[in-house]
Amino acid sequence: MSKEQEYLPLIAEDADVDTLPLTGHGPSARGRRKLTRWLIPALVASLIIETVTLVVLAAILGRKSTHPSCTVPGDQKVLYSPALGAVENQVQVYQLGFPGDMSPYQIPSSPKLDEMWSDLYNYGISRISKEEASLLPNKTSPIPGDPGYYIAELDVFHNLHCLNKVRMALDPDYYPDWRISTSNNHIATQKNATDHISHCVDWIRQSIMCHADTSVIVWQWAASLNETIVKGNVAHTCRKFDKITDWAKERLLVNAYDPFVHMEDDIVVPILHQEMP
Ligand SMILES: *[C@@H]1O[C@H](CO)[C@@H](O)[C@H](O)[C@H]1NC(C)=O
Ligand SMILES: *[C@@H]1O[C@H](CO)[C@@H](O)[C@H](O)[C@H]1NC(C)=O
Ligand SMILES: *[C@@H]1O[C@H](CO)[C@@H](O)[C@H](O)[C@H]1NC(C)=O
Repeated sequence: MSKEQEYLPLIAEDADVDTLPLTGHGPSARGRRKLTRWLIPALVASLIIETVTLVVLAAILGRKSTHPSCTVPGDQKVLYSPALGAVENQVQVYQLGFPGDMSPYQIPSSPKLDEMWSDLYNYGISRISKEEASLLPNKTSPIPGDPGYYIAELDVFHNLHCLNKVRMALDPDYYPDWRISTSNNHIATQKNATDHISHCVDWIRQSIMCHADTSVIVWQWAASLNETIVKGNVAHTCRKFDKITDWAKERLLVNAYDPFVHMEDDIVVPILHQEMP
């Protein structure tokens, strides 16, 4: 019913017992007078408490909504990608990569390791619909012999390809075609991978800076070492890689793509998009 009745029990705790009715459904005339005496200050106090609570709550919620890990400011542009629908975050703890917490990718160079790396990106070339292609911020090409479909690759797969080549360049005795050649170590019969590896290192640098991971690496006391040590194997906010690979595998370009066939098409990329940084 009214606010008064809601607050009665509160008053009862503070008020003299004899000012409250012991029986009946409402306060007696005398009780009502006394109640009013208590009621008004109590209501005012309640209102103040409520107001303060609301202000504090608003402050907490307000702070939360601008917390950098929770939201991205709404006015920032995210360029269209046909895979945006497959983006889903999850919390993931990285493997440290030192003994005791090694990842499966740290085994020595071998056909098995090559296959594991290849499994991370060898489905990276996709066929997307013309409608999707027309929404891209830049032009891509129709697939010869596959009317209505266009070729596309998500950069995550190109990144992984590049990192794999860098990995191979680090073990040139096992991967002679990926040796970085200087006058000191050049082997005449081998390819010189310097330019490709240089491209890859710089591409990965740009990608890391572009995605600027703000997960926090911490320092913790390690009693066994008597030392505060840096701990990188903490939780990160990650995109579910499986969902992105599912997207790519569903759209895998199976047939060989002939880059020497030029296909005319009528998709016009708006000037506005072309000018985007
Ligand atoms: C489109 O491609 C051109 C040439 O590669 C490039 O200069 C431009 O920045 C690209 N625009 C976008 C929005 O990707
Ligand atoms: C390998 O390629 C790099 C980059 O093009 C070049 O600077 C270097 O001299 C090459 N190495 C040899 C031995 O030719
Ligand atoms: C850690 O340092 C303390 C004080 O220097 C020393 O007494 C203790 O033996 C050390 N413990 C280990 C495990 O090194």
